[in-house]
Amino acid sequence: MKPPCSLYCSLCSLMLLGAGSLLLLVHLQDLSHNVLHQPSGLQVLVSPRWPVEDLMTKAETEVAALKAKVSSKSLMAEDSSLVVVTRQSVTKRHRKLLLKSGFAASSAPPAAEQQQRLKSPQLARTLESRRRLLKDICSKYHRGVRDQRVSWQQVSRVYVEDQSRLLYCEVPKVGCSNWKRVLMVLGGSEASTQDIPHDAAHYANHLRRLDSYNSSGMASRLSSYTKVLFVREPFERLVSAFRDKFESPNSYYHPVFGRPIISRYRTNATRAALRTGAGVTFREFIQYLLDVHRPVGMDIHWEPVSQLCNPCLLQYNFIGKFERLEEEANFLLQSIGAPKNLTFPGFKDRNPLAERTSSKITQRYFSQLNSTERQKAFDFYYMDYLMFNYPKPFKDLY
Ligand SMILES: *[C@@H]1O[C@H](CO)[C@@H](O)[C@H](O)[C@H]1NC(C)=O
Ligand SMILES: *[C@@H]1O[C@H](CO)[C@@H](O)[C@H](O)[C@H]1NC(C)=O
Ligand SMILES: *[C@@H]1O[C@H](CO)[C@@H](O)[C@H](O)[C@H]1NC(C)=O
Ligand SMILES: *[C@@H]1O[C@H](CO)[C@@H](O)[C@H](O)[C@H]1NC(C)=O
Repeated sequence: MKPPCSLYCSLCSLMLLGAGSLLLLVHLQDLSHNVLHQPSGLQVLVSPRWPVEDLMTKAETEVAALKAKVSSKSLMAEDSSLVVVTRQSVTKRHRKLLLKSGFAASSAPPAAEQQQRLKSPQLARTLESRRRLLKDICSKYHRGVRDQRVSWQQVSRVYVEDQSRLLYCEVPKVGCSNWKRVLMVLGGSEASTQDIPHDAAHYANHLRRLDSYNSSGMASRLSSYTKVLFVREPFERLVSAFRDKFESPNSYYHPVFGRPIISRYRTNATRAALRTGAGVTFREFIQYLLDVHRPVGMDIHWEPVSQLCNPCLLQYNFIGKFERLEEEANFLLQSIGAPKNLTFPGFKDRNPLAERTSSKITQRYFSQLNSTERQKAFDFYYMDYLMFNYPKPFKDLY
């Protein structure tokens, strides 16, 4: 079985390398790694542009400088003198891939945004302040990004629903199967979310993604549709992904990720473990995640949202949170004038018997790590914490 939510990501990381200006701070970790997402085992090899050590030093310097400037309590009050270094780093090979490049995104607020204000003033204010915070973080740390041209690769996770003029960026582990069900009903291809099995939601959904349109089709939708993003506490999302992919039988993640992870990070691994790739521990998984020389590429289930959905570039109108998923999703559905009987489903269809990942469960997994590992994991998701205003998950982090 193929991994849900990760069908089309094979070229993302490769394209990332060439995608105009790279945000040095955030993308570093992926620069030197193999990208491997095809169930077929197809590998796309990418060689590093700079010596990795050099990059890491720069990254650490940047993170340190950033943290010196930002205290997550007073983000809004900070000055904007710190600009993260961006780089044009496109090789000939990547340039070719980039030839099909888009246009600048414009940002006329769609009607749904006005609608929100009328329906629930409290939630509308919350949503407005999320947008403002994100805009603020973007103008401080990703200055100039919003004026860049949008490439097809940068919208490859964005699903299109033309009837209700909606663009939804898929973030795995944040209710994406249910979002797909809702989009299918909105588009009229299904009568009810109840009737859509998990696999159908992912593999037979007839949903189009924004990168399948030509540049005018993409531009007009980006400028006039309601752009939706749902996020989740980053460590919780990470633990949820780990439990989903490594703690239950999985014919893709065990061989493709489990095997290389066990073989690299486990001393005295049994032959059975090396053969099946089953039984990866959370600590081994984190070692893989934080390794500059990862033995296997990134995956959308644990890729930071700041990279997956390009929030500074695409300027989402609606930033919802998993922590209040049903309430906020239903609010959005109302705002866009969805049928009254269409509400966001509460199904949990991945491992329905396992308890949903909570902050308590997350703490339990992270307690298996030492403080250095926790800190590095926090650094890895730092932009997500900042952009979506999640508090530090452990007191000893800085
Ligand atoms: C909502 O009601 C309409 C007609 O009343 C029906 O056709 C449709 O299937 C219902 N949708 C859902 C999601 O139940
Ligand atoms: C883009 O696609 C639309 C609809 O498919 C078509 O009408 C239009 O001519 C295309 N534009 C370009 C520039 O190819
Ligand atoms: C691995 O096995 C060797 C030989 O059996 C043993 O000496 C060593 O202590 C083991 N290492 C670990 C980390 O268990
Ligand atoms: C934490 O674990 C890592 C291995 O993942 C090790 O290199 C490091 O020294 C440990 N740090 C502390 C403070 O124990």
